[in-house]
Amino acid sequence: MTNKIFVKQIFFDRWAPSYDWLFPSVVYQAIHQRLLEYIDLPASANVLDLGCGTGKLLHRLAVNFPTLQGNGLDLSPEMISQANSRNCYPQRLTFLLGNAEEMPFENNVFDAVFNTISFLHYPDPQQVFNEVNRVLRPGGYFYLVDSYFKWQDEFQSLSILPGGLKLYSPTAREKLGKEAGLNLQVNYYLLGAVLLTIFTKELV
Ligand SMILES: C[S@@+](CC[C@H](N)C(=O)[O-])C[C@H]1O[C@@H](n2cnc3c(N)ncnc32)[C@H](O)[C@@H]1O
Repeated sequence: MTNKIFVKQIFFDRWAPSYDWLFPSVVYQAIHQRLLEYIDLPASANVLDLGCGTGKLLHRLAVNFPTLQGNGLDLSPEMISQANSRNCYPQRLTFLLGNAEEMPFENNVFDAVFNTISFLHYPDPQQVFNEVNRVLRPGGYFYLVDSYFKWQDEFQSLSILPGGLKLYSPTAREKLGKEAGLNLQVNYYLLGAVLLTIFTKELV
């Protein structure tokens, strides 16, 4: 594990016990609610929530799609512990510890990958796109939700919070996707500066 990844793990481990009770989580849950309006899943979809935190998005998906199978992956053992202790659908939802840059999944297994307010923490964004492309089945969707301010540059690096943050414009997102084999379909603002970008994996 690189130092930058380790710093993030420590930061989120400390946040995990209070995560669901603090203001940012209230905002994130409003974002999850808005995201539901834009998603397209097959019956009995198998999905991944990358950087799942305490598992709130997967629970919302499980309620709305009663035959969905969901996997949550997160770098922070404490986040995964919170997610497992609150798992209301243990037959359908599984939470695993792991790094978005090296996912512990086979190729072509997911109908959709979700990623909400986590991408800004990744030191190697292209590697994460490559991994998303690898685990998605052809024709599958990648829902990337993260902040982008219209006045910022195509790519903005901010030296705030441990390990810093990285924000990507629609153009920067499109380039990362194209390099990995994912085509940008559409962008929607969900709440304030929080931008949803939907990609699809090329059909072979
Ligand atoms: C702000 S929280 C968002 C959690 C959740 N997606 C939500 O919408 O509430 C960011 C999450 O990304 C996770 N994360 C950061 N870097 C990661 C990485 N390299 N691999 C996997 N998860 C990571 C953190 O541990 C944390 O749980």
